[in-house]
Amino acid sequence: MAALLWSTKSCVSIISRGLRTYGTPSASKAVMKSDPLEPDAPVVHTAIPGPRSQELLTELGTIQNTGAVQFFVDYERSRGNYLADVDGNVMLDLFTQISSVPLGYNHPRLVKALLKEENRATLINRPALGVFPPGDWSSRLRNALLSVAPPGLNQVQTMACGACSVEHSQKAMFIAYQRRQRGGQPPSPEELQSCVEGHAPGSPNLSVLSFTNGFHGRTMGALAVTHTKWVHKLDFPVPDWPCASFPNLQYPLDQFHRENRAEEDRCLDEVKERLHAWEKKNCPVAGIIVEPIQSEGGDNHATSYFFQGLQDIANDHEIPLMLDEVQTGCGATGKFWAHEHWDLKDAPDIVCFSKKMLTGGFFYKDHLRPQEAHRIFNTWVGDPSKMIFLEEVVNMIKEEGLLQRVKDTGSYLLSGLYDMQTKYPGILSKARGLGTYCAIDFKDADTRDKVLNELRQKGVHLGSCGNCTIRFRPTLALFRDHVDIFLDAFNSVIGGLKS
Ligand SMILES: Cc1ncc(COP(=O)(O)O)c(C=O)c1O
Repeated sequence: MAALLWSTKSCVSIISRGLRTYGTPSASKAVMKSDPLEPDAPVVHTAIPGPRSQELLTELGTIQNTGAVQFFVDYERSRGNYLADVDGNVMLDLFTQISSVPLGYNHPRLVKALLKEENRATLINRPALGVFPPGDWSSRLRNALLSVAPPGLNQVQTMACGACSVEHSQKAMFIAYQRRQRGGQPPSPEELQSCVEGHAPGSPNLSVLSFTNGFHGRTMGALAVTHTKWVHKLDFPVPDWPCASFPNLQYPLDQFHRENRAEEDRCLDEVKERLHAWEKKNCPVAGIIVEPIQSEGGDNHATSYFFQGLQDIANDHEIPLMLDEVQTGCGATGKFWAHEHWDLKDAPDIVCFSKKMLTGGFFYKDHLRPQEAHRIFNTWVGDPSKMIFLEEVVNMIKEEGLLQRVKDTGSYLLSGLYDMQTKYPGILSKARGLGTYCAIDFKDADTRDKVLNELRQKGVHLGSCGNCTIRFRPTLALFRDHVDIFLDAFNSVIGGLKS
């Protein structure tokens, strides 16, 4: 592996934003970082995308659609919380490949695992895990995944990505639903024949209840429960399944307790009404899917009260509650799983994961385990090489107390965002977050997009979501010094907008 080469100079500007003083780390102060080779500050010397990125874009554009490409990355030179592009620019990355880098780029611990002789065969050979697992598969699952299983869930299924984890979780719910309908009897010959032909009774009319602004992926079953932008859904014949309103809360949550409680009650009533309506339409609901914090849909939060109520409704209807923790899982909210913030009476029935977990998959309760082979299955059902890295990530989270770090850095970031929205009330609103899983709204989408572009030009890379929101999805190894760099740039960009 080529050496990771460079480091950059500290930057010394300290600015006052009137309410608190922030600054990029001073030359005299050691910058806090978990990876010693991480740069100290961003360096930008071309427009982003720069000339080399533009060239590569043209080249790639001859063979595929490149509409979503922002710039080309030099992954060899990216390090820690810093992303290097092919033009030599180095950005503080607070978006991390759509929320999927747990420790940082080229983390030394992962590089070490990559180079270990004993890991070679696992890294080179990609088995069909469902039929020919390696001898250490069970222990790898236990060391990496089961060691962080949500309390109360002890079954796990690996998958490749977020959407296929959601799809297969849905299948697990449908299988369990029909098994109950049959009262434990085997399927009839008619069911076995009609399912292959694609009609009832083998292919039953069942549904999954989801929420407005929910996002669960882009394959057909996942799309049926996704309700964000047209670009995700136009032209696809997805089934018409019930969708209830996700609470539209006022922030800060603790200052609008009464209003938010009324809104959550309204949404819970709607869930009950939809369950009833689809039962009457002869398309009963086999399960409920929800994100702990709606991400793609705009970083929308709900309170423990809402999720506890949802679990009660699911229990009353004897259907599973499935939590999509693809984006919220793996520590970003300050707990390993976001739902651990809610004090649920019982474990959720299914928890899907992917992104920072490096492998897709889901944890589930015993009663959702399929009884026949090949029911929840595909060629690879995951990738053992990811388990090598996940084990390192999980150990690092535990050994270095990264969940506490996320809480500390997150509260510092959120208080900085509160200060900014107080200073620029006409532009910014609704600062919100749990851990470093933070967001803030802009007065409109154009302003948001302009600020994102200008921030990137100052060496800070962030993502958008919803209509006019920016979302923070940094690594778990983010320190206050990194937040200072962001706040410095943010203040300068927003201050520039006003004048
Ligand atoms: C909550 C949630 N579920 C599912 C998915 C789909 O994951 P993937 O893009 O890996 O298919 C995403 C992706 O952003 C997500 O945020």
